[in-house]
Amino acid sequence: MSEREKIYIFDTTLRDGEQSPGAAMNVEEKIQIAHQLAKLNVDVIEAGFPISSPGDFEAVKRIAEEIKGPEICGLARAVEEDIVTCWEAIKGAEKPRIHTFIGTSDIHIQGQLRKSRDEVLRMAAEAVRLARSLCPKVEFSPMDATRTDREYLIDVILAAIEAGASVINIPDTVGYALPDEFADLIAFVRERIPDHVIISVHCHDDLGMATANSLAAIKAGARQVECTINGLGERAGNAALEEIVMAIRTRHDYFDRFYTEINTKEIYNTSRLVSRCTGFEVPPNKAIVGANAFAHSSGVHQDGVLKDRRTFEIMNPQDIGIPATKFVLTPRSGRKALKHKLSELGYELTDEQLEKVYQRFLKLADKKKEVHEADLEAIMRDEFKAIPETYRLESIQVMSGSGLIPTATVTLRRGDQLIRDSATGDGPVDATYKAIDRITGLSVELTDYSIRAVTSGKDAIGEVTVRIKNGGRTFVGHGASTDIIEASAKAYVDAINKMIYMTGNA
Ligand code: KIV
Ligand code: ZN
Repeated sequence: MSEREKIYIFDTTLRDGEQSPGAAMNVEEKIQIAHQLAKLNVDVIEAGFPISSPGDFEAVKRIAEEIKGPEICGLARAVEEDIVTCWEAIKGAEKPRIHTFIGTSDIHIQGQLRKSRDEVLRMAAEAVRLARSLCPKVEFSPMDATRTDREYLIDVILAAIEAGASVINIPDTVGYALPDEFADLIAFVRERIPDHVIISVHCHDDLGMATANSLAAIKAGARQVECTINGLGERAGNAALEEIVMAIRTRHDYFDRFYTEINTKEIYNTSRLVSRCTGFEVPPNKAIVGANAFAHSSGVHQDGVLKDRRTFEIMNPQDIGIPATKFVLTPRSGRKALKHKLSELGYELTDEQLEKVYQRFLKLADKKKEVHEADLEAIMRDEFKAIPETYRLESIQVMSGSGLIPTATVTLRRGDQLIRDSATGDGPVDATYKAIDRITGLSVELTDYSIRAVTSGKDAIGEVTVRIKNGGRTFVGHGASTDIIEASAKAYVDAINKMIYMTGNA
């Protein structure tokens, strides 16, 4: 059996990813993401393009000083000022790397740089030499490599290696290549450069080929892949880190000797964080990290997954850090899927009860395309009106604002009794929940809180959904009001009432 070979993961979310129009992040957000990338165990973090703005310089410098583990890389054009500034930003890193680049296709040389091929070759070599005199590790990219004349490409690459580059990155800058063609280019470069030099690839997704091209390149000799979380990046984006890593892992039969050292259980958290910081929602059908990537809607699929997950899932969602397989109920969902979903919500029903709920579910599912948890909750509330309101929210008063410690005073009714208590918290909702906990004396763990506007405008009704956990079971509560604190309190009390009813715990 051939020896195992590591594929180095070079994350450029903070550099190329940040070039996505509208994805600008502030310094604190970049540092938070860099910490998470270190947890994910990427090999290299390209932290930014220090010359591009004072903010970028500061972010790269702070990341270089704070983040331990991965190499910290900064980008620089092949000009002195960029390289010196880049070094100033990254020199505090445990393992610094300068990444310098210049366009090498005739389109770039003539159309943008307005220079000759010889001049560009000289600039590349001088830039690498200067970078190498400052930094022990230098990466060079001939930009637009896939549209560059092959013999000239090799001349520039050899000049960069001669000047001290130990990583040569082959960018498909405009996402023009196709997998066979790109693999052929990588094999061509591999044959012509010394073995100790690592070939990296950097693929853009203009034709939707970024992941396929990167994977084809690995087979042809590339050992570093440049990629971004959620596939962010200039225009259509870069190859998505999660796709590259999970393809290599899931298809180990095909990529037998290759592996990455990514801690895949951190993929989902990283994806969520990047989405929050950039404000870019992950499309529901996005491979690996989309909300539907592990959701099963058809009855046949749901039945299969409940019997044996492998029937319709090629990856285990837990390996990516996704809590559990999601079921979206549709008219095609069967009784077993419904029972499973209800039990996740904390309802254990007899066969007779289940049959009643199933008939109501089918009627609703015929009208709506998808049945959500809130719909099931409504059916359950209606069908089992008997779920008693052990506690009912009577009133709530909250004090919060800048400079004030958020304090809530809550009054709950239990039978004829009115019980009032107060608490402080990290915010008004936290203070409210702590006051409710003091009244009920129950030990519950809040595992999820979400709010959505049901109507629009400033008098919009906010619907809060919470999940609480007790003794390994989850209970969901809903509350709606034009006052979001009141909606939050109602949702929490609703979940507690359900818990008391289902567990007999009061
Ligand atoms: O796409 C590209 O060519 C780049 C280079 C700077 C590597 O982002
Ligand atoms: Zn790029």
